[in-house]
Amino acid sequence: MAEDVIVACDFPGAEATLAFLDRFQAEKPFVKIGMELFYAEGPQIVRQIKARGHRIFLDLKLHDIPNTVKKAMRSLSALDVDIVNLHAAGTRAMMTAAIEGLTRPDGTRPLLIAVTQLTSTDQQALSGELLIDRPMDEVVMAYAKNAADAGLDGVVCSPLEAGKVHALCGGGFLTVTPGVRFAGGERGDQKRVTTPAQARELGSDYIVVGRPITQADDPVEAYRRCVKEFLG
Ligand code: C5P
Repeated sequence: MAEDVIVACDFPGAEATLAFLDRFQAEKPFVKIGMELFYAEGPQIVRQIKARGHRIFLDLKLHDIPNTVKKAMRSLSALDVDIVNLHAAGTRAMMTAAIEGLTRPDGTRPLLIAVTQLTSTDQQALSGELLIDRPMDEVVMAYAKNAADAGLDGVVCSPLEAGKVHALCGGGFLTVTPGVRFAGGERGDQKRVTTPAQARELGSDYIVVGRPITQADDPVEAYRRCVKEFLG
């Protein structure tokens, strides 16, 4: 069920990010911070954006041995973010360890979602390089099921896969979906796109929208249009 629009703040540094967020006076968008910004500015940028009242999806896609991921998740949990993620390819043992690390002494924790297969990996790379001989959609769904079985809250996927993920993993298992464009808008490097309204109809819980908002002439207007189309 449509919950919210997450704005991908894919900027190179704090200055550009905060200048962008300064444009929003009447609302506090849910913000995605990715590797580019986090590695440039460190945890301080997360604290700064949080202190301004935004919810944060920290998109760092952890993938390491279970003990390392557990400890790293403990550090991220202390940052008080709302959603974090990891690669389901790290195995159920790694995902279970991640939940342990993320859970605070009072039992609360940020939502934890999994990347199944990156959309930049195609069938040829999957079989030719990773030696995984199953069809991509079967692999994606199996990884989603592993994530659900490990107790995660959802996956990153295409809106076009949201229905299938819900059917397999339950309606409450979150689908967080990039690849969203306004009707008639620039696609950029995204290949399989849907509009915010289509994403809602397909069952996306959160849409992640970057350039259609960040590069718009009027980002606030583009954000409002997105919210209106997605939340109805
Ligand atoms: O600018 P755009 O709307 O394409 O931004 C989408 C955001 O979602 C980017 O931060 C991109 O890295 C991220 N993402 C994606 N596809 C995935 C996983 C993450 O586009 N499969």
